[in-house]
Amino acid sequence: MTGPDLPPQVLVLFGATGDLARRKLFPGLFFLWREGLLPAAFRIIGSGRHSPGTDEEFRDEVRQEGEGWEDFASRISFVTSSADDGSELAEAVRAVEQELGGDARRLVYLSVPPSAAIGMVRMLEKEGLNERAHLVLEKPFGTDLASAKELDAALLDVFAPEQLFRIDHFLGKEAVQNILALRFANGLFEPVWNAQHVAYVQIDVPEEIGIEGRASFMESTGTFRDMISTHLFQLLGFVALEPPTAIDAEGLHEEKAKVFRAIRRLDPAKVVFGQYEGYRDEEGVADDSQVETFVALEARVDNWRWKGVPFYLRTGKALAQTRRTITVGFREPPLEVFPCDADGEPNELVLELTDDAEIFVDLRAKRPGPALEIAHARMSLALVEAFPGSTAVEAYERLLLDAMRGDQALFTSTAEVERLWELCDPVLADPPPVHTYPQGSWGPQEAVDLPGPRGWRIPEERDARERG
Ligand code: BG6
Repeated sequence: MTGPDLPPQVLVLFGATGDLARRKLFPGLFFLWREGLLPAAFRIIGSGRHSPGTDEEFRDEVRQEGEGWEDFASRISFVTSSADDGSELAEAVRAVEQELGGDARRLVYLSVPPSAAIGMVRMLEKEGLNERAHLVLEKPFGTDLASAKELDAALLDVFAPEQLFRIDHFLGKEAVQNILALRFANGLFEPVWNAQHVAYVQIDVPEEIGIEGRASFMESTGTFRDMISTHLFQLLGFVALEPPTAIDAEGLHEEKAKVFRAIRRLDPAKVVFGQYEGYRDEEGVADDSQVETFVALEARVDNWRWKGVPFYLRTGKALAQTRRTITVGFREPPLEVFPCDADGEPNELVLELTDDAEIFVDLRAKRPGPALEIAHARMSLALVEAFPGSTAVEAYERLLLDAMRGDQALFTSTAEVERLWELCDPVLADPPPVHTYPQGSWGPQEAVDLPGPRGWRIPEERDARERG
């Protein structure tokens, strides 16, 4: 169900003058509208504690390039609200609902710090804004297990579970759904998708950007909460899950929760925290800050399928490259029958999670020519090229649409979130030492060494570097 089939919608965006709204939500909504994917009748009400001025001024603030902006923007307005007072907002929502007709639905998007979330949920209840609403919540969902449980209790007091959409935007990336397609729409991969054939998995999300003005967010959250307890573990969930009974919310939530239950308590010796040099000089950062801007760790999934396979996770700011890459490394063949194949580079299946998603397998093949010479080659699938004429949909766009149509499959469940905190809490309670690393590097040496002699797949010149 898309576009004209969807009932009229009123979108209420809290945090509408914030970074996420400007960078992702407004561009995403404008794209969906231009593609004819939004409901025929909709309104967007931005909200926050501070007014950006008139509706016109607000529209200017979130202006996007492209044909049709004025038409699209005529549906945007701004109303102030806070946890203490949402009456004006509730009035505005009811007024536009009248215009749109009686069956209008509400999509409430809550992008506020964890400390503010419960107050906002109570306000929504007080003003009756929870009725007929889908609530999209931005991470982090609490700051530890106890606060996540408190938030869950408050949410379930006010909303039914099917109204809740905990967003983890990595799950909206085309390539993440491709993990499912690759594994379960083919007979080729699933038989080797286990400890018998897989030697290791790497989930690698280095970022070149620093904190880009998000000092207070980073200082209060840190990279472990921002990225590991959410995006990277979720990716691990998709790689490791058992075939679900159906590719729907229930099937995926159930199977991911089972994977997270099977993850062994993290070994503090296998968790590396780093902080880039110069972080403490950033405006808004404490002079003696111990906050980690980098994390690398080894996780183990103690179940029948994955026993013995290390999962390496790495992410951080101010690193040498920006990548979102999943690598599944396969075991060597039992016998070396080709004498010249000496360099030991393994077969790796690589998923690049960019918008321009790509999947490839590094393998060995015969080099054309008179001799039987084995060399490295690549089998690759560029998805946009493979499906000419199709339009890739960006993660937030996809998830906004799913929330409107009520599909929770690519959102995270209460059970998953709570289990992940259970796993992460011991590390946060007793964090490892924070090692500094130079900007533009691959993080502290301890992290470079974490996967042992084979090292990380990225940077690709790994072997060259090893040879020195
Ligand atoms: C966000 C994190 O959720 O994801 C940021 O808060 C991070 O710290 C970002 O940079 C990365 O997202 P993307 O879509 O650029 O891969």
